[in-house]
This record gives sequence, C-alpha cells and structure tokens, in this order.
Amino acid sequence: MATDRYAVIGHGISYSRSPQIHSWFAQQCGQSLVYGLIDTPPESFAAGVQAFLADGGRGLNVTVPFKQQALALADTASERAREAGAVNTLAVQPGGRLLGDNTDGAGLVRDLVANLRCELAGARVLLLGAGGAARGVIAPLLRAGLAQLQVANRTAARAVELARLFAPLGPVTALADTAAAGSAGRAGAQSDGAWDLVINATSASHAGELPAIPAGAVGTHTLCYDMGYAQRDTVFQQWARAAGAGQVANGLGMLVEQAAESFLLWRGVRPDTAPVLARLRNEP
Ligand code: ATR
Repeated sequence: MATDRYAVIGHGISYSRSPQIHSWFAQQCGQSLVYGLIDTPPESFAAGVQAFLADGGRGLNVTVPFKQQALALADTASERAREAGAVNTLAVQPGGRLLGDNTDGAGLVRDLVANLRCELAGARVLLLGAGGAARGVIAPLLRAGLAQLQVANRTAARAVELARLFAPLGPVTALADTAAAGSAGRAGAQSDGAWDLVINATSASHAGELPAIPAGAVGTHTLCYDMGYAQRDTVFQQWARAAGAGQVANGLGMLVEQAAESFLLWRGVRPDTAPVLARLRNEP
C-alpha cells in the first residue's frame, strides 16, 4: 500500500516547521506517512489543494493566507472551524468528502494550560488584535471559563465586531481605543489593573512592530504570550520582559499543539508533544 501523504499549504512558508514536527510525530507513533510543503501563490490555492487530493493526498494543514478560503473549499466544516471562520486542517473522510477543521484554538489552550501551567478558569485576559488569528482563539478561550476577555485592536471597530459576535459564548468586551491608555473605551470596559494573561494575536511582530498596549496591563503575575514565534524574542516578548511580566512565551508551543490535534484527526492517535517541543527549541 502506498504511504499516506500530507502537507502544509500556504504562501511564503519556506521556513515552516510543520514538516519537521509531523515527521517527528510519525516516528514517535510508528506511523508511516510523508508530510510535504506546498508554497503556492494566492490565485492557485484551490487548484493546489485539488491537485494534491487528486494525487491521493490524505490531508493538509492550511496556513497564511488561505485559512478563510479553506473553509469555503471544504465540503463540511467542524463547529470549531465555523466559529473561527477559518480552517487550518483539511482531512479526506471515508467516502471522499473533505472535512475542514480548526485546531489552532485547541492548540493555544493546550499550550497555555498543559505546557505553561496557566489557570484559565476565572482568568482575566487581554487579547491584542482582531484579525483572523484573534478570531480563531476567542471561542476556545471563553469555553475554558475566563472571568473576562477584552479584545483590543488598532482598528477598534473590528474588536467591537468580534466582541459582539462572541458575546453569546461568554464575558467578552472590546476596548475601543488602546492608544488612550487607561481611559474608558466607548464600546467596552476600561483596562483595570494588570491582566492575568496578555495574548498578542496581531501580525505586528512580522514587521518588527509592537501593538499599542494599555498602560498598567502587565504585572508580576501576568503571562505575556505572543502567538507568533521566531528564533529570537519578538518585539512583544522583549517589551513584556522589560515591563516586568512574570512569564513570557512565544507561539512555538501552540504550533506544536495544533499540529498534534491535526495529527490526531488524521491518524487517530495523539503524539506526545513535550519531546517534540523540546527538540524544536534545541534545534532551531
Ligand atoms: P491574521 O490572520 O494574522 O490575524 P489579519 O486578519 O490581517 O491577519 O489581522 C492582523 C491583525 O494584526 C489586525 O488586528 C491588525 O490590526 P488592524 O485591524 O488595525 O489592521 C493587527 N496589526 C497588524 N499590524 C499591526 C501593527 N503594526 N500595530 C498594531 N496592530 C497591528
């Protein structure tokens, strides 16, 4: 029987760690599979997926900038993919239908809870950003039982819109103006003392920029988490250390945990993520 094939598809992803992660997972679990990388221009996304599947591919991870398009392409979508408005995992189901799932939120929550020992139940959380990355993690965070989730974004209207969308799921508000540090926002609660957790879900790190952060947001008990990652500390991580955050982390753990969730969906077995995460950190 031919070896099952998987891949990550995106644009400008030559540095993706996903092939390495999945090959270590496969070794660890004794699974026979190959995992490749498809870097495709935006206009060729759908054709790239169809060609991979027509050639016998069993599943894909989908990354920037195709996660929304992947939702439209799937024959059926999981509830968490519909909530996120995006798909990061495609799986060919028995019978040939294409399932779209999203494991990003579960990956973030697992990294926070299992790896970083962050107590989410009852936590007050500030989420910076209101794009696709932020949207994908709001529902799983609220389901973890937060006391408060405040969304702050450079374009305030997008934060207001996300808070409105997810309000039925839990206590989510929008800070209408992050630049007006400490002043009450039109549409939401005022930043009130240090948060337990501050998550950077903006894409500002890619440009080496720091999003506006309300004054007093960080204290010695605060975990500052950048959903992005790089070999060195991101600007946000550097800022968080200087601001005196108790704990600072990047999104490498989230990357490994979302990959494990995808692997589980495809192969029915969840890899042990700890050794893979340690190896990634040691072999940059
Ligand atoms: P992604 O899928 O990575 O979330 P996106 O949907 O384009 O990408 O969203 C990018 C997010 O990062 C947005 O919240 C964006 O703010 P705006 O809505 O105001 O555009 C935020 N962002 C990007 N660059 C930023 C910067 N330099 N400072 C602050 N926020 C920034």
